Amino acid sequence: MKNILITGGAGFIGSHVVRLFVKSYPDTHIFNLDALTYAGNLENLEDVEQASNYTFIKADINDSKVIQKLFEAHQFQSVIHLAAESHVDRSISDPLSFLKTNIFGTVNLLNAAKECWKSNFEDHLFYHISTDEVYGTLGSSGLFTEKTAYDPNSPYSASKASSDHFVRAYGETYGFPFIISNCSNNYGPNQFPEKLIPLFINNIIENKPLPVYGDGNYTRDWLYVIDHAKAIDLIFHNGLKGETYNIGGFNEWKNIDLVKLLCDLMDEKLKRIQGNSRNLIRFVKDRPGHDLRYAIDASKVNSKLGWKPSVTFEEGLVKTIDWYLENQHWLKNVTTGLYQDYYKKQYKNN
Ligand code: NAD
Ligand code: TYD
Repeated sequence: MKNILITGGAGFIGSHVVRLFVKSYPDTHIFNLDALTYAGNLENLEDVEQASNYTFIKADINDSKVIQKLFEAHQFQSVIHLAAESHVDRSISDPLSFLKTNIFGTVNLLNAAKECWKSNFEDHLFYHISTDEVYGTLGSSGLFTEKTAYDPNSPYSASKASSDHFVRAYGETYGFPFIISNCSNNYGPNQFPEKLIPLFINNIIENKPLPVYGDGNYTRDWLYVIDHAKAIDLIFHNGLKGETYNIGGFNEWKNIDLVKLLCDLMDEKLKRIQGNSRNLIRFVKDRPGHDLRYAIDASKVNSKLGWKPSVTFEEGLVKTIDWYLENQHWLKNVTTGLYQDYYKKQYKNN
């Protein structure tokens, strides 16, 4: 049986990747390594935790001794690396924790993998999951391609850019086997309600103000998280080593237009008078260094690997709203911090 290490599998995107791999590849053993920071929630994986090809390991990617021992013990054939500090606003108030996990933690994993795989790099793969934010900001036109120069503007994107550079440098310097993908903004079930869409869904449910930064004319390219997980699966199995793939939704929205659509859909679902939720919109102080526009040219992953999003934005948004409305206990556990007790109850012997 092959062993694959997925880092950050208790987080938003990671939990969808873990589920997809555990269910699609019963002959592969999936090790989910996660430190369970505020963003890690094992309730995301309740439906697969009993699977015979799944193991959860609570560990910090910054802990070089533990990481090295795990590679020795399990001889991971490949790594899909998602663990990261991921929220731009947190990176503005605490850049060092982003440097630590996103850069140091990634290099720690690279070192452990390099040591374990050094006799035959050909049979292995380190797949590093990154973001389109490393490219900086676009003006009103143009798209990020795989050749766009890195130009990060936030401590988050600077730390992700640095980690990408280390991964590529290990490829050049040591012949280390890697792939990187850079994806646009994800949305969908299980996203921590600090990011725009789940935060606003939660606030609309609770009739709380919707804080739109600046004038709301910032643009993001949104992708349904399950489509990202499917792209990761495809790239992991069919991508070329040493290559980068951009993944995006072909789906640009100005924040204010997205928020209005979300408000209208929520009014419909909650059987409120149309226009009710729009009254909650408040234009607030802008985020410092706020990138104006992200938009991905995903033609490479489309033409080389046949990937494209499976749902439209409206379909994905309705699925997302339905999930949050049907899983209000999840939302409540997360917003009250109770989700952190789940690990203690579930894994009391670990
Ligand atoms: P998330 O914040 O929801 O999850 C991150 C996970 O990593 C959590 O489970 C957390 O506990 C874990 N983690 C954090 N520090 C750790 C450490 N030191 N050791 C071990 N585990 C640790 O993030 P996400 O939105 O799921 O993003 C996952 C990856 O995808 C990140 O690398 C992010 O940069 C990238 N990405 C995210 C988006 C997006 O829109 N969310 C878009 C493109 C790329
Ligand atoms: P976010 O979900 O934090 O993702 P990112 O910063 O990685 O793109 O934010 C998406 C957009 O929404 C971004 O332009 C910032 C904006 N935003 C708000 O206007 N208000 C908010 O409360 C948040 C969290 C984000």
